[in-house]
Amino acid sequence: MRNILIAGNWKMNGDTAGNAELVAGIIAGAPRSERVSLLVCPPYPYLSAVSSQLAGGAVSLGAQNVSEHEAGAFTGEVAPAMLRDCGCDYVIVGHSERRSLYGESSDVVARKFQAALDAGLRPILCVGETLEEREADRTEDVVDEQLNAVIEAAGIAAFGEAVVAYEPVWAIGTGKTASPGQAQDVHAHIRGVVAGHDPDVADRLLILYGGSMKGDNAAGLLSMPDIDGGLIGGASLKAEDFLAIAAAAAQL
Ligand code: PGA
Repeated sequence: MRNILIAGNWKMNGDTAGNAELVAGIIAGAPRSERVSLLVCPPYPYLSAVSSQLAGGAVSLGAQNVSEHEAGAFTGEVAPAMLRDCGCDYVIVGHSERRSLYGESSDVVARKFQAALDAGLRPILCVGETLEEREADRTEDVVDEQLNAVIEAAGIAAFGEAVVAYEPVWAIGTGKTASPGQAQDVHAHIRGVVAGHDPDVADRLLILYGGSMKGDNAAGLLSMPDIDGGLIGGASLKAEDFLAIAAAAAQL
């Protein structure tokens, strides 16, 4: 049985005092479960402080984005090795907000994925369709394009160190969640694509669901056979809300 990862994507939210309170709450209320791991992904400026607060505990640290470059004249960018240096184990790549607001193509995402792996980070690769694409029955095509760009660039073995997050764009921050069945269909498809290259890697791969996951819908989603956790935006900003999802996971 695969483990469950509950990851908080704080996006561009928080401040020093609020983060300290949030992290203290998460540490205090984290379920004692062998199977469920927790991860928080704060904005860059707070990574070191949150890393210190998490030190020695079971909650992991990740970043929300990373440069595809190692070092040098890239004003405003953050290198993968810097994230390691600040205590990160994970980094989100290809979030739909990065793709749509900052024009990140699947090729750029693939290079970030590889750069993260090279530095010893676990990339969390986000894929997902817009409402228009779903209504045009193009969900699988879109997910295939986003996934295959990375498989071609990094190779399937790289997915042994990675996590995939299926995040239907129409469900992100909208309060509309994919139904467990809708999400499961796409998760099974993603696992099938990976299995077409390497069944063992597919079997071990964690595929998270993201898009308005909350305490009251988490159990239904997480009980699906191919949903191995959540990438949580809004509900990761309050310890109580995040822990409600973690508690639902621990009860499975
Ligand atoms: P949401 O965001 O939980 O607020 O919908 C999820 C995400 O964008 O990762």
